[in-house]
Amino acid sequence: MSAIVCSHVDKSYGATSVIRDLNLSIEEHEFVVFLGPSGCGKSTLLRMLAGLEDISGGEISIGGTVVNDLDPGDRGVAMVFQNYALYPHMTIFDNIAFGLKRQNVPKAEIRQRVGAVSTTLGLDPYLDRKPAELSGGQQQRVAIARAMIKTPKVFLFDEPLSNLDAKLRNHMRVEIARLHQSLNTTTVYVTHDQLEAMTLADRIVLLRDGRIEQIGSPAEIYERPGNLFVAGFIGTPNMNFIDVTIGRDGDAWTLTNAGTVFTISGERFRLQQGERAVLGIRPPDLVAASPGASGNLLEGTADLIEFHGNDALVTFCLGGKEISALVPSRACPAIRADVRYGFDESSLHLFDAQSGMSLRRQ
Ligand SMILES: Nc1ncnc2c1ncn2[C@@H]1O[C@H](COP(=O)(O)OP(=O)(O)OP(=O)(O)O)[C@@H](O)[C@H]1O
Ligand SMILES: [Mg+2]
Repeated sequence: MSAIVCSHVDKSYGATSVIRDLNLSIEEHEFVVFLGPSGCGKSTLLRMLAGLEDISGGEISIGGTVVNDLDPGDRGVAMVFQNYALYPHMTIFDNIAFGLKRQNVPKAEIRQRVGAVSTTLGLDPYLDRKPAELSGGQQQRVAIARAMIKTPKVFLFDEPLSNLDAKLRNHMRVEIARLHQSLNTTTVYVTHDQLEAMTLADRIVLLRDGRIEQIGSPAEIYERPGNLFVAGFIGTPNMNFIDVTIGRDGDAWTLTNAGTVFTISGERFRLQQGERAVLGIRPPDLVAASPGASGNLLEGTADLIEFHGNDALVTFCLGGKEISALVPSRACPAIRADVRYGFDESSLHLFDAQSGMSLRRQ
């Protein structure tokens, strides 16, 4: 049985449609991340799962029960927000225990359960403090503890790490991954940070304008983006895109952009002579060509070099378009040097220029 099923879910605010005919099944124990640009409807969808927001159409079920008309407290979910929402005047113990006290759980059981959760999250030393006396990361753990103590069927996280600095965010990301490994509770996690999505998710649901663009494991989405939007959204540095016209050369296919012609076998793609397409290639898939090399080459003059440590991002112009190659720093060219990069056909992506859909055979 799926843990969560959304069936034809719609949401509008007045005339503004925010989620459109959304269908999604989340399996038990799965860690699913809603990812997408600001305003695409991630939080709205999460809040509808939590029951904090009505749905305008369709059906949501959790653990096999339709929850459309159930109050948040009766859905078996616990939500962790971006701004922790801790009670400032209460101790950490009381913050964590709050939900149990409201349910009139006996005092001894509250002590035992708060103890267990606070030990799991490393909060034992802080139970007598007030939230203001904790660091951001510790406060975030209290917010997670407060959700955990309800032993929910589903955890819902809305950008729980976005208030933390980069180092703490990395640390908490690992903690959340560990927590999921040990508790195995079905989790839905909202973020617009693709690194968070790629590292935490069993499956990513990539949203745009209230619709699902693609659902898949991080590797599937990275390696087989289904359309131009997904290809451009996933992967840092961003995928390079080159407009090409498709042609034939004997048994091979050609992809032509102004003066540059690439020749490929095209086996992986559905191609048609004369059609316009967009060739996609990720910066790390461009490899410096040796001096005598021929074949598929992107050539230009390095006009920007960004040093990243181990790697450097070399940007050059090809047919009026900026192209970036991620190269080992020790092989980094000088600024304004002539550069030539080759690629393996297996790393190419091709998209229909009009629809934006991938031309890859399924
Ligand atoms: N109460 C509301 N009334 C009208 N429009 C709303 C309301 N709440 C959200 N919206 C709109 O719904 C859309 C989706 O909002 P939502 O908060 O779900 O986006 P999000 O993907 O979580 O974005 P972010 O990454 O910025 O948090 C936005 O265009 C937003 O302006
Ligand atoms: Mg949001």
